[in-house]
Amino acid sequence: MVKELLTPKNQEYIERARAVAENVMRPVAAKYDVEQTYPWEVQRAIREAGLSGVWIPEEYGGEGGGVMDLCLVVEQFSRACGGMGVGYAVNALGSFPIILGGTEDQKKRWLPDIASGEKLISFGLSEKDAGSDAGGMTTRAERQGDEYVINGEKKWNTGGAVASLNTIFAVTEPDRGARGISGIVVEKDAPGYRVGKHEDKMGIRCVPVVEIHLDECRVPADNLLGGSEGRGFKHAMMTLDRARPGVAAQAVGLAQGALDLAIEYTGKRKQFGQSISAFQGIQWMLADMGTQIEAARQLVYTAARAADAGAKNISKLSAMCKLMATDVAMKVTTDAVQLFGGYGFVKDYPIEKYMRDAKITQIYEGTNQIQRLVIARSMLREAASSGD
Ligand code: CAA
Repeated sequence: MVKELLTPKNQEYIERARAVAENVMRPVAAKYDVEQTYPWEVQRAIREAGLSGVWIPEEYGGEGGGVMDLCLVVEQFSRACGGMGVGYAVNALGSFPIILGGTEDQKKRWLPDIASGEKLISFGLSEKDAGSDAGGMTTRAERQGDEYVINGEKKWNTGGAVASLNTIFAVTEPDRGARGISGIVVEKDAPGYRVGKHEDKMGIRCVPVVEIHLDECRVPADNLLGGSEGRGFKHAMMTLDRARPGVAAQAVGLAQGALDLAIEYTGKRKQFGQSISAFQGIQWMLADMGTQIEAARQLVYTAARAADAGAKNISKLSAMCKLMATDVAMKVTTDAVQLFGGYGFVKDYPIEKYMRDAKITQIYEGTNQIQRLVIARSMLREAASSGD
């Protein structure tokens, strides 16, 4: 990271986030990984540090920092614990549909509590049979008088068990495909709303990933985002364009955290009469890891800045940074385990957790196969429109 290329405000977020990461997250990361429970003490520390609403506009109680500052904070959190990084970032994923598509009244109703950390929010897009093909969802929302009645089941709902609000996407007009999908904010005590199975996961174990059951779930009609039906799929895609850099930042943080530990370990570990970091073979591995991380980081920052600058068609850059940074995280964390040798394979050292936490970044918020599809489609569209 080149601090001089960042604004004073960017640097201030990094310092505040780093303090929470080092003083609060790192000491308890292993405990919550084993217990697979939600770290409320961490959530309190994030609130106290004033970081709960970094990406939320100031007029709704946030810091107005946008995607870039969100990424900087997620990166620092994930350097200490990947699970705690995504536990934070998922609130941006859940609230972007309100920021992008909500009415003024809806923004005023929900965003201040999210910005203050009083309420957590999750994002209900995926279903058992609608993962990559998000438009193939079957959860149905029907208008009945002043209410929507929702029936269906959501899958892979990150943070859903601890969130007070859930942005649920459902079919309101069954014959219209993606244009028949709407976003509806559902509060956790809505009748017919139930948190189901908790997944037992390989990584990011401190953040609950759950199924959400909606059985004749009734919500006020004015919880429909934007006030008119059929805009949900677009809002979900626009949200992912802004949230994928956050996953990429999580990946950069994980990779950097693993490299930090690998540098420390290889400096201390002695074999054949010297630190193993004195061997050229190890130095070349460290050099590759550092170079890959810096390249990924710069692509993440470019995508985040492009989103904040209101650049058109950010889908391509957003997908590119997610694809690259998460592949780098998997490679770097695997190499870091290698550098620890046998000690990397056991839980006496924190390094194996980095590799487990990294894996999901290649999968969620769109698999890296889907990212390639988004990138290629954008490139082909650009070529067709430029007449080349
Ligand atoms: N911005 C705005 N609109 C967009 C858009 C974008 N980025 N991408 C697509 N659209 C619009 C299209 O213009 C089109 O609109 P019209 O009907 O008006 O023309 C409509 O959406 C449908 O678009 P496509 O035909 O391109 O849709 P598709 O069915 O081919 O799907 C896809 C495209 C890219 C594959 C999409 O389904 C996708 O991103 N899939 C992956 C889903 C995903 O990332 N899921 C992760 C969920 S979150 C999670 O992981 C859990 C968690 O909690 C962390």
